[in-house]
Amino acid sequence: MKGIWKYKDLMELPTDLPLFSLGEGGTPLIQSKNIGPEIGINNLYFKLETANPSGSYKDRFAAFAIAEILNKKSKICLATSSGNTGAALAAYSAAAGLPCKIAIVEGAPEGKLKQMRAFGAKLFMIKGFGISSEISERVFDKLAKLAIQNHTRIQVSAFKYCPIGMKGVQSISFEIAEDMPEATNIFVPAGGGGLALAVVRGFQRWNQRQPGFKVPRIHCVQPEGNNTIAGNLRNGLDHAQPVTDAATKISGLQVANVIDGTDTLKACRDTKGNGYLVTDEEVFECQRLLAEKEGIFAEPAGAVSLAGWLKAVRSGELKPEDKAICIVTGNGFKDPPSIENLIEMNPVQYLDEKSMDAYFKVE
Ligand SMILES: Cc1ncc(COP(=O)(O)O)c(C=O)c1O
Repeated sequence: MKGIWKYKDLMELPTDLPLFSLGEGGTPLIQSKNIGPEIGINNLYFKLETANPSGSYKDRFAAFAIAEILNKKSKICLATSSGNTGAALAAYSAAAGLPCKIAIVEGAPEGKLKQMRAFGAKLFMIKGFGISSEISERVFDKLAKLAIQNHTRIQVSAFKYCPIGMKGVQSISFEIAEDMPEATNIFVPAGGGGLALAVVRGFQRWNQRQPGFKVPRIHCVQPEGNNTIAGNLRNGLDHAQPVTDAATKISGLQVANVIDGTDTLKACRDTKGNGYLVTDEEVFECQRLLAEKEGIFAEPAGAVSLAGWLKAVRSGELKPEDKAICIVTGNGFKDPPSIENLIEMNPVQYLDEKSMDAYFKVE
């Protein structure tokens, strides 16, 4: 078995869950070629979740979520999404022959919406959803009820709603534990916190199986405009908090309400991980660095982990000898407007054949 399914036994799934896969997981773990070395650090690595079938780590979720739907013989996939969960579920639903209806957070980027539409999902963008914690809470509740009426469960990439799908996400940690057991620090972008919680739980599970294995420190990195977990984790508080308005522009990380947040905070703290808050500008700069210095095409949310790592290095909280992995969670193709800023100074030049010599010289 390949990808996430090879860990099936470790995840304690229902034994009759049918294997359903588009080839998710088994993503590359690569060493930084320039960003780390340029500041004298050879211990920076990237886990490229961009390489998953629909371009984000959410495919790990979707594989198990759709397998569960098929197992329960439900007739529909009903979901909420800021974009990537929807894109993943839409793809896997298409493959499974299931209709898919998704409540989308306000302002989800066109790239993700088009991907979902291409897979045939029906999208409904709900005003204020994802932005206001109150509206979001109501939308979740309403959808959860509608899901029950449709003999299914609402698909949200969070333990609170979908523990089986989230087990798929824990496979990120199993892969890291196998490929680089000596990693000591993992930087994880967080919106609702489900991903960071899955990463912690995955390593803890690995540790139960291999007691000698040391769980790395899992750091939760959030944009300042969606500070539900990271600030309180850093400040020693024991709960996450909703934000009235998720002001960040980083798509995927606008999750105003707490969802898994308090469990995430406690879980990261158990690993001696910290919270890092980064500005949107720092994130866009890291998206540029990943592209220009590493050849990694990430969406902004995927660059948040690097922004956290840089903060940790600059503050001295992370030492050059600390082996760190940044999880690059989503692909740059997802969010074309964010790429506009990167390419503004690098336009296509239009030539006729005769002038080619002058332009193709090595300078
Ligand atoms: C690319 C990307 N990275 C990170 C996250 C954060 O996940 P979570 O909300 O579970 O913290 C998301 C969530 O949608 C995402 O799409």
